Amino acid sequence: MRLETPCEVTHNQLTFDVEEIEPILQGPAMDIKPWPGATIQLKDGRTMYIREAKMEEAPLMMEYVMKVMQTTHDFYDIVGARVYAEILGWYRKRLKDPYTLVGLVDGEWAGFANGRLMNKDINISLHTMALMRGARVGAIMYYAKAFYGFELLGNTEWWATYESYNGWMRWGVGMAQPSYPWPEYQHELGGARVYYVTKAYWDARVKEYVRQMVGADLVFDVPDEIIKANETMHLPDDVTV
Ligand SMILES: CC(C)(COP(=O)(O)OP(=O)(O)OC[C@H]1O[C@@H](n2cnc3c(N)ncnc32)[C@H](O)[C@@H]1OP(=O)(O)O)[C@@H](O)C(=O)NCCC(=O)NCCS
Repeated sequence: MRLETPCEVTHNQLTFDVEEIEPILQGPAMDIKPWPGATIQLKDGRTMYIREAKMEEAPLMMEYVMKVMQTTHDFYDIVGARVYAEILGWYRKRLKDPYTLVGLVDGEWAGFANGRLMNKDINISLHTMALMRGARVGAIMYYAKAFYGFELLGNTEWWATYESYNGWMRWGVGMAQPSYPWPEYQHELGGARVYYVTKAYWDARVKEYVRQMVGADLVFDVPDEIIKANETMHLPDDVTV
């Protein structure tokens, strides 16, 4: 857009260094406590380690998610495509205060869960994916990110929505989540209904979810050998969802 200047100017053109533009596009990050890492025992006796994804793992993760999004059943395609964009948004610093958790079994990538903080109170759940099915990995990953929000970050509200029947059943129904009036409230994932959990409801009921679902709890005292075994993430050989 152009307008005539209201006074004489000494420099007709101003130039910017892109590093001066970046703080405007990126915005300041909140000071967020990191997820400390936790294990949980799966139904089949194996241990899954849930840790933060490392930024340098993002390209590897995107490479795999690109394959996952070719899967047309159970909404893996739409979720895969959006997860790809969210990993890239985190990698390119175009997502506000994201967190990205991965579930690993002996170093192999088994589950994914991410979200972002709208502010210090509201945690926006973005996506959860089970890359290894049948072990309730997805149920655990979602619980872990909600635990992170309520127990470690001090959030007071959790906002979720569901693209898939499995997701809706696992947590919309599985956690008996109420929803806000729609269309007055819309989730940033496509303007769908916002399902929510308050801290009071978390404390009263939802905290028990993972124990009921998988018969085990998150364990935060993680032995060094587990951390070491999962230091390097390996992609599964194939997409088997
Ligand atoms: C939603 C999701 C994360 C749930 O993961 P999960 O809790 O690990 O559960 P699964 O999807 O593996 O399995 C769901 C049920 O179907 C069964 N199942 C489905 N496909 C299966 C497979 N290929 N092998 C074994 N079991 C399978 C499971 O045994 C399970 O039954 P259960 O309730 O008795 O445990 C997962 O279905 C997923 O990643 N879906 C695609 C992405 C998505 O929809 N994300 C949520 C967005 S709202």
